[in-house]
Amino acid sequence: MRLPVTYTSAAEALQIIKSGDRIFVHGSAQTPTNILRELSLQADRLKDVELVFISVLGQIFVDQPGLEDSFKINSLFVSEPIRKDVNEGRADYVPVFLSEIPELFKRNILPIDVAIIQVSPPDKHGYCSMGVSVDVARSAVNTAKKVIAQINPNVPRTHGDGLIHTKRFNAMTYFEEPLHEASYGGRVGPDELKIGEHIANLIEDRSTIQMGIGAIPDAVLRCLGNHKDLGVHTEMLSDGIIELFDKDVVTNKYKAIHPNKIVTGFALGSRRLYDYIDDNPAFTFLDIDYVNDPHVIRRNPKVVAINASIEVDLTGQVCSDSIGTFQFSGVGGQMDFLRGASLSQGGKPIIALPSRTKKGLPRIVPFLKQGAGVVATRAHAHYIVTEHGVAYLYGKNLRQRAAALINIAHPDDREALEKACFERFKIF
Ligand code: COA
Repeated sequence: MRLPVTYTSAAEALQIIKSGDRIFVHGSAQTPTNILRELSLQADRLKDVELVFISVLGQIFVDQPGLEDSFKINSLFVSEPIRKDVNEGRADYVPVFLSEIPELFKRNILPIDVAIIQVSPPDKHGYCSMGVSVDVARSAVNTAKKVIAQINPNVPRTHGDGLIHTKRFNAMTYFEEPLHEASYGGRVGPDELKIGEHIANLIEDRSTIQMGIGAIPDAVLRCLGNHKDLGVHTEMLSDGIIELFDKDVVTNKYKAIHPNKIVTGFALGSRRLYDYIDDNPAFTFLDIDYVNDPHVIRRNPKVVAINASIEVDLTGQVCSDSIGTFQFSGVGGQMDFLRGASLSQGGKPIIALPSRTKKGLPRIVPFLKQGAGVVATRAHAHYIVTEHGVAYLYGKNLRQRAAALINIAHPDDREALEKACFERFKIF
């Protein structure tokens, strides 16, 4: 039988949090800004509350100077709002594959005391939807001792693993606020589009694609207009999917698992995307320990994983989460999908990056910057793409790799790279 819905204020709902608790906070589009603001106001009564999450967006309030004794951020990804906190020592970062974050909760490595989530209003059976962020939130909620939910009518109802009954909530509050939005479109310039074209040429019809985060995946989507019967099995979705789906470029017909459905863990884009997804049975939002499991990913044919990176060295080591020691981002699902794609029949794991930064620094380099984090090892790197072309590294020795990578470096960087290659490998 359905229990009556009883709402409290956010301040009251948060009373179930005690000093020393570990709290999971819903992320991406559904970062519960209002609740975080309220939580920060309770700093005086709380000590050593640990906050774990993946990519929170917007102002999070609990990281304000002076609240360090009350709130400790221990993040599983580094998104923009906490980048400064992490690099200035006010927050910590845990490097981990996205697919394995649920294990941290389930195996009590990071047991969750309270999960704070944002959900749609309940349906007539009492079920709310976790909307466009099911990803690690599903496991957090499954394992949390207590759950606080903010009901927000702006949260879309999505199909898949994100449904949760109000019975599961220990406290419920109602607040209407816009979901967070993101757009990479403004950062897609001629170089990104050239990269998009090179990648589009690598993608065969009937492939199953995954797109990572950043301007390049956005550019790739724009270049796929003439493809046929693509499938989508990805960790995240952005606005570019709408046009491809409307134009029947994406039909999901030839996927081996979840045919006719787009499978994802979360969506991050504009309100238009969230409205498009709302109650749309073509989209299935699933638990990330399933979506990002390389053994699941590999079951689809011709999986093409497209992810961006920060720097690639001449042997193919891929740094995607830091600029030297500066922690810019996280491991995320990049490796999950690179591995899944390489195991899939006819799959293509692709790493893409402009050959130089906007300030003119080379991104194909002899050595990664000191302190750089290797997200994908050189054994995992198959295709590296810049605006100057495609380097295919799989099966190539170190010297052959260096030659292939020099060919796609910025033309003005090639001489220095050749010199470095000669010094290291005694030949070019
Ligand atoms: N040296 C110095 N600065 C560099 C640099 C380098 N080698 N590479 C990048 N930067 C700077 C850029 O100049 C830019 O600075 P700006 O914001 O001041 O312009 C910033 O770092 C971001 O680089 P950019 O290439 O614009 O990043 P992006 O937004 O396209 O994202 C990643 C690229 C790699 C950070 C992003 O894809 C990521 O976080 N990946 C890891 C997780 C992942 O792939 N998950 C997979 C699925 S979600």
